[in-house]
Amino acid sequence: MPMRGAAAVGACAALLVGGCGKTGGGPTAIAGADPGQGRRVIERVGCGACHVIPGVRWPQSRVGPSLEGFGRRALIAGRFPNTADTLALWVRDAPALSPGTGMPAIPLTEQEARDVAAYLYTLDAR
Ligand code: HEC
Repeated sequence: MPMRGAAAVGACAALLVGGCGKTGGGPTAIAGADPGQGRRVIERVGCGACHVIPGVRWPQSRVGPSLEGFGRRALIAGRFPNTADTLALWVRDAPALSPGTGMPAIPLTEQEARDVAAYLYTLDAR
């Protein structure tokens, strides 16, 4: 089997939780973003210090809202449309969108922010 095929299968496996493409109901997977990488970023920077995030190993606190089922939410922080671009901006610079929010800016690259957003979109608990 050519390498390209194998890589595509691997990418699909990474998206398995999100259903490998459209999940029906929740937002779609983000092009060029890797949810598995996003989960590792979430663990590295410690989003779990403030959020309950399914699938993330971290002593999770409830300073911020639980992110359970976030892939199905229509709004971010009850105010902003839950689109990939807005979510990627929110996770690295929430105060830019919402001055005075309790969520701090987090030092992430744009790619990391998109990977994190992609992981949050796999959270589609039924
Ligand atoms: C210091 C605590 C803290 C940290 C660290 C933190 N957050 Fe938050 N987060 C919050 C708070 C507080 C809110 C609620 C903000 C609001 O409603 O204005 C929030 C809101 C959110 C929301 C919107 C939730 C909703 O119900 O709409 C998302 C998504 C989110 N955070 C993701 C993350 C991610 C991803 C990280 C790590 C990159 C992270 N947060 C790190 C405190 C934190």
